[in-house]
Amino acid sequence: MKALVFHGPGRTAWEDVPDPALEDASDAVVRVDAVTLCGTDLHIVKGDVPEVAPGTVLGHEAVGEVVEAGSEVRGVRPGDRVLVSCISPCGRCPSCRGARYGQCRGGGGWVLGHLVDGTQAEFVRVPFADMSLHPLPSALDSQDAVLLADIYPTAYEVGVLNGRVSPGDTVVVVGAGPVGLAAVTAAGLYSPARVIAVDLDDARLAAARALGADAVARADEQPERLVDDLTAGTGADVAIEAVGIPATFELCTRTVRPGGHVANVGVHGKPAALHLEDLWIKDITITTGLVDTSSTPRLLAMMSAGRLPAGDLITHRFPLAAMEEAYEVFSRAAETGALKVVLGQDRHDAVLPA
Ligand SMILES: NC(=O)c1ccc[n+]([C@@H]2O[C@H](COP(=O)([O-])OP(=O)(O)OC[C@H]3O[C@@H](n4cnc5c(N)ncnc54)[C@H](O)[C@@H]3O)[C@@H](O)[C@H]2O)c1
Ligand SMILES: [Zn+2]
Ligand SMILES: [Zn+2]
Repeated sequence: MKALVFHGPGRTAWEDVPDPALEDASDAVVRVDAVTLCGTDLHIVKGDVPEVAPGTVLGHEAVGEVVEAGSEVRGVRPGDRVLVSCISPCGRCPSCRGARYGQCRGGGGWVLGHLVDGTQAEFVRVPFADMSLHPLPSALDSQDAVLLADIYPTAYEVGVLNGRVSPGDTVVVVGAGPVGLAAVTAAGLYSPARVIAVDLDDARLAAARALGADAVARADEQPERLVDDLTAGTGADVAIEAVGIPATFELCTRTVRPGGHVANVGVHGKPAALHLEDLWIKDITITTGLVDTSSTPRLLAMMSAGRLPAGDLITHRFPLAAMEEAYEVFSRAAETGALKVVLGQDRHDAVLPA
């Protein structure tokens, strides 16, 4: 089969590799019908994630059809159309028993496209298939559903739930990339008074508006002032950090109100300052987290019911074989306007009554 193979920093290729096969009785092999690229894949390609060994197939998000299931797999069968989650929980370790799947200690967690071959391929072997795969209702489009593999659970769990977004809140989302935009949408499910999106890119701010942000601000034009104006000087109830740099984390801690929540979602590569000289008196809660994907069944139900937009987040669609071009477009997002780039052919024939 063909797959996108990482060959060390700066080097990837769409090339022939052996077809994946079952290695464990709890594995399944899935034919990939829709797959997307993540900012994390770009970090891997740059060499920021040294655990990824050269030779690994990248990708941790997909929708496809089960073609083979190990003898212990009970929840899916060959022929089922499934979502492949970015987290593969063992389901048995203490972390998984507490639904902290991202922290799995039993050989699972974030393994696809990280520690084992991933989804940017024609086929993928998925470990712990009963926990990692979610059968999809027939009406849900494969390319829409692929957004449930990573960005929606991340934005919802690590942003909205950790941030305790509640009715009437003012929510600031710093960073309007795919994850921040998904957080704008997911925060809206809680009837906040307003959602304010902050970014440096006007096109992304326009996308935030289209997805329901009530106000937007450029990060380099004193967004704190807009938050102050809209909250009569109190500050935001919730600030969600969806960039991953010190400046944006510090902006979140400046815009949050006393008693409010800062939910960090961004992956950070450098230390950020925690201004305890200002914060010690403010009763704020700061959370961090790796996505667990424990919310995936609920998000799937919401997307099926038309409560989560999907198509608006997808800016580019390619056939699977255009993987290298898709990386090119995605890695130059500022010029190409790329948000989510989805590849594959939806081979699923919707079974709607004639
Ligand atoms: N915690 C988790 O489990 C988890 C899971 C997935 C992704 N992430 C992380 O979430 C973050 C967002 O992911 P994404 O795919 O949307 O990334 P992205 O790079 O597409 O988006 C980041 C956005 O931040 C904006 N930005 C850059 N500098 C800024 C600044 N100074 N002020 C305001 N905005 C600024 C960019 O214009 C861009 O729109 C990344 O750090 C990613 O690694 C975390
Ligand atoms: Zn990802
Ligand atoms: Zn586990």
